[in-house]
Amino acid sequence: MRKPVIAIDGFSSTGKSSISKVIAEKLGLIHMDTGALYRGITYFALQCCKNEKDNIDLQKLISNLNKINLEFREDNGMLVLFLNNTDISSEIRTPEISENVSLIATLPEVREFLLHTQRSIAEKGGIIMDGRDIGSIVLPNADYKFFLTASIDERTKRRHLELLSLGIKTDAASVKENLILRDKTDSERTIAPLIQAKDAILIDNSQLTKKETTQLILSHIKTFN
Ligand code: C5P
Repeated sequence: MRKPVIAIDGFSSTGKSSISKVIAEKLGLIHMDTGALYRGITYFALQCCKNEKDNIDLQKLISNLNKINLEFREDNGMLVLFLNNTDISSEIRTPEISENVSLIATLPEVREFLLHTQRSIAEKGGIIMDGRDIGSIVLPNADYKFFLTASIDERTKRRHLELLSLGIKTDAASVKENLILRDKTDSERTIAPLIQAKDAILIDNSQLTKKETTQLILSHIKTFN
């Protein structure tokens, strides 16, 4: 039985990754959170490439991309992100990374670098990949495409709670500001912007729980023969 290739795109904090993870478990697919890869590059950039003004030197980052080895490794059923053999899965969730990641994601060189990583993992099929440009650019031939959205207030509430659960203290106003800014940068960039692919199914989950969203997505997926 052939396993499906599923693309889940959408706005930040619509539950893309956690929902994809559950679907992957149910259907026996690999799950790839592509936002984690962009966050991984941003983590590297903050370590390697700051200028005197404490900003990221984008040219320096571009010329150092060949020093980056990002890979997911399995640990007790969980996929853990490693940068050059170091586990960075908690480090990539900090507000500092969230504040810088969308700028890094506008760089064509970064997108090209990660396109290769993403497609080579998807080659074998049987995968659910979540991000911003999966249905439109990374896997345009995916069997199923979904685009998730929710109101900004609902997303702020979810992200704020997530950060608190990770022990990261922040206020709802800064969380909302970061989400609005990232939505704007992600939607307006020239290369691979956040966009609903023409053949993607739109789901607004403002009023839905994660479980309900998961069930709705699963209701669209037929068993493959
Ligand atoms: O999904 P997450 O919020 O972790 O993604 C972080 C950022 O990575 C997004 O705001 C976006 O700038 C970038 N990203 C992207 N393309 C993807 C996945 C994430 O540009 N496929």
